[in-house]
Amino acid sequence: MERESSGNGTRERKWEHVLACVWEDVEADTSPLFECVQLVHRALPELDMDDVDTSVRLFGKELSFPLIIAGMTGGHPKTGEINRKLGVVARRLGIGIGVGSQRAGVEDPEVRWTFEVVREEYPDGLILANIGLQQLRENGPDLAIEVVDMVDADALAVHVNVLQEAVQLEGEPDASGFVETLEEVREAVDVPVVLKETGAGVSSEDAELVKDLVDGIDVGGAGGTNWAVVEAIRSKAHGEVPVGHSFSEWGVPTAASILEVRRVVGPDMPVIGTGGVRGGLDVAKVLALGGDCAGMALPVLRKLLSEGVSGCVRFLKTVAREVKIAMMMAGCRSVEEMSRVPIVIHGRLKDWLECRGIEPRRVCSGDRRQGWE
Ligand SMILES: Cc1cc2nc3c(=O)[nH]c(=O)nc-3n(C[C@H](O)[C@H](O)[C@H](O)COP(=O)(O)O)c2cc1C
Repeated sequence: MERESSGNGTRERKWEHVLACVWEDVEADTSPLFECVQLVHRALPELDMDDVDTSVRLFGKELSFPLIIAGMTGGHPKTGEINRKLGVVARRLGIGIGVGSQRAGVEDPEVRWTFEVVREEYPDGLILANIGLQQLRENGPDLAIEVVDMVDADALAVHVNVLQEAVQLEGEPDASGFVETLEEVREAVDVPVVLKETGAGVSSEDAELVKDLVDGIDVGGAGGTNWAVVEAIRSKAHGEVPVGHSFSEWGVPTAASILEVRRVVGPDMPVIGTGGVRGGLDVAKVLALGGDCAGMALPVLRKLLSEGVSGCVRFLKTVAREVKIAMMMAGCRSVEEMSRVPIVIHGRLKDWLECRGIEPRRVCSGDRRQGWE
């Protein structure tokens, strides 16, 4: 175990990430491709909006609408207040929340509280613990048990960030043995394990490798916050020559990744669509593509820091309303019906599917949750 060695380094890096994400342009030079998906409008949906039910159950908890505040922070004393406020926002809305990587909280007991506050603020809520697969490989599965206990988590998000490690100043780009580690982690913890990408997406090939080893996948697709860009900004600030910007368009766009993953994992595994989700219509498209729930990080952080808890709650209430409007106009009374609505796929997403041997017409008219091959 080399937990002591990088204590304060990890702490400071966590704060630098928050500052870069709030003040700089850190989004990918590609889109999540939600603009290539259209839900077919129903002029006669035969529904009263009051009867449209946006609630979902995920990992044993009910959410008022299908959104998780994706894991972002914790680990630096200044991030504790952010996490506390995010916990309040999630509780007021009845949605899920993830914490950021808990590596710092394990290395440095002084900052454990910056994660624990989320559970304090949201005693009954859906909370996802978070730790890197690389740290788990190095420290063993006890680390997974520790981070789950730290926030009394309902599920454990195990993140992979190969791109970030490859371009990061202090990065350790060794991604060998990951699949075996996942298997050990799943045996060790008694909550569902979610494989979580952080902005470069999950392909069918990767989903195939892990589909029997995890209980859910957060696709963390390309098109939103991009870690190559964040690390390029940090490199520059540290006087180094950045390489990250060349990879600002790298990755499987979120819309494509949801289809790639659902194609191989079958109808029952929870699939979370994170990466470039910016409003309620994007959330509705995640559902229509066969996802169970969307995740949103950057816009929530920025809203919280610019307009406080009430501004952030207002923003997310608008997102919830947009989800409901989209569901009604697509003729859906429940979230479960959304994967069966007819859709149209065009442009770059259609090209993507064709190049990957997926027939776009079958995707558009089938039940995306069931697969289509
Ligand atoms: C400031 C910040 C810190 C993040 N830290 C983590 C982390 O520690 N662990 C993780 O799994 N993902 C982390 N993420 C990635 C998000 O969970 C999410 O996958 C990614 O930002 C894409 O969503 P977005 O486009 O809505 O921002 C972080 C994102 C942001 C903005």
